[in-house]
Amino acid sequence: MITVKTVRELRAAVARARSEGKRIGFVPTMGNLHAGHVALVEKASQRTDFVVTSIFVNPLQFGPNEDLAKYPRTLVADQEKLVAAGCQLLFHPDVEDMYPDGMDGQTRVNVPLVSEGLCGESRPGHFEGVATVVSKLFNMVQPDLAVFGEKDFQQLAVIRKLVRDLNMPIQIIGEPTVRAEDGLALSSRNGYLDEGQRAAAPALYRTLQRLANAIREGRRDFASLEQEGRDELAAAGFRPDYLEIRESLNLRRADVEDQHLVILAAAFMGNTRLIDNLAFSLE
Ligand code: PAJ
Repeated sequence: MITVKTVRELRAAVARARSEGKRIGFVPTMGNLHAGHVALVEKASQRTDFVVTSIFVNPLQFGPNEDLAKYPRTLVADQEKLVAAGCQLLFHPDVEDMYPDGMDGQTRVNVPLVSEGLCGESRPGHFEGVATVVSKLFNMVQPDLAVFGEKDFQQLAVIRKLVRDLNMPIQIIGEPTVRAEDGLALSSRNGYLDEGQRAAAPALYRTLQRLANAIREGRRDFASLEQEGRDELAAAGFRPDYLEIRESLNLRRADVEDQHLVILAAAFMGNTRLIDNLAFSLE
């Protein structure tokens, strides 16, 4: 695996792979890689001949009071995991390489509707920052295929819509959430939790499972289920941000006829904001 920092080096390496007839796979990340990221790289490696991973902590998608400055940076350990997962090229630019003219005048990509509500409401500008940087990365790498995690369900929906609306010739693959044994979705932010918080955190996924089971067993009173879920999170020591039941294909609010559902939640454990979701279909 080679690691490059500039767009010029990236393009040259990808062009070389292309001239050898290779299909290009791409996995964008912010680093501090765990088994969830590794699963995406392995998927890309199964489906393509040359896998590019990016590690870039994108300032454009962080709010003023968020964890940009303290976001964990673990390059050497990340490189080892990427080699083992089958990555050929790591793109690791600085902020100046990604935003040479600064961020103020940067052209922005806005994906309406699907970016609104849920994380879009609690993190204003977040999905514009994500859609903008992912569009830039797609133009830099020009992959045939890109893999994203279902862990960030709304983000995946934003990327699918972006690629469709802007006619980008890139196949988007969604990869199931990788979890710890106790059910907690792996996340770089889990590292912020102290021992007691870490022990309490699996309640987030347990709550989603309980609500999904209640719906499978016939309940359709979504508003009261959502309230029960938020109460359950609060009882487990979370400060709930949102918990909503939505239609999983287009993310609009669920109604009683819908067959494809997703329950999405964000909740603070201390100062750490965790998100999770559970998508399921009714027969
Ligand atoms: P990051 O949080 O580093 O996540 C990179 C990719 O890994 C995303 O597609 C995310 O959904 C996926 N991922 C994270 N945890 C996962 C888990 N437990 N199981 C499966 N996949 C998981 O998401 C971002 O970075 C950024 O917003 C980015 C897309 C790179 C744009 O800056």
